Amino acid sequence: MRLQHATWPEVETYLQHSRGIILPIGSTEQHGPNGLVGTDALCPEAIAWALGERHGVLVGPTQNLGMAQHHLAFPGTISLRPSTLIAVLRDTIESLARHGFTQVFFLNGHGGNIATIKAAIAEVYSERSLSRQNEGQDPTQSEMALTLFNWFAGRRGRELASELYGDAEGNHATASEVSLAWHAADTMKQVAMSPEVAPYGSAECTAEVFRQRFPDGRMGSNPSLSRQEHGARFLEAGVEDAWEAYRAFVGQA
Ligand code: NI
Repeated sequence: MRLQHATWPEVETYLQHSRGIILPIGSTEQHGPNGLVGTDALCPEAIAWALGERHGVLVGPTQNLGMAQHHLAFPGTISLRPSTLIAVLRDTIESLARHGFTQVFFLNGHGGNIATIKAAIAEVYSERSLSRQNEGQDPTQSEMALTLFNWFAGRRGRELASELYGDAEGNHATASEVSLAWHAADTMKQVAMSPEVAPYGSAECTAEVFRQRFPDGRMGSNPSLSRQEHGARFLEAGVEDAWEAYRAFVGQA
């Protein structure tokens, strides 16, 4: 079930049997010459929507903007500062907490978001842990459990990427994410690329330095190997990986 397609009484009913919600989170950033700017949001969103349909879990709106400052030298990229993204995530989590959601599962599509999502989780936990010193604080407020799962790090997806692309998978504008985003958006782009496999290096730099290091935006990848039909297989792998992680999370939480 998608939150955006539900009514408030339906959400109220859902809360009677589940306190869990999946929040897809990605980025709006360049993904090389043939990858969609929305890749990092489209991939976790497609996986989350499939989970919502197959397993009845509630899926919140996709957080389409992430921490992507290093991609800003490429047109189309929109970035939030880490502090802005932390504020957005805190307010999102606290809104859900107000209604009784206690298990929030971030399904992430962007490596550059990881540190910031973890910082936002630590902020929410800190607020609860510290406020318990106050007299009269509702102790149930501290029950919130939050977790982060990166779809691109799931075991089945990794195995499929290595089977299809080997060392040419890379780590930005990867062949796997380009395939999955094409499948999700029902499109594809044929673009000649040189060199075939992009250089590797660090993305911990300013946008200008990033573009000098990675002139066409790719890092270590050869996404000319991407195919829409591969995307359908990455969706299946991602759904299984994410469902396994979600079940483990709500079971423990
Ligand atoms: Ni990406």
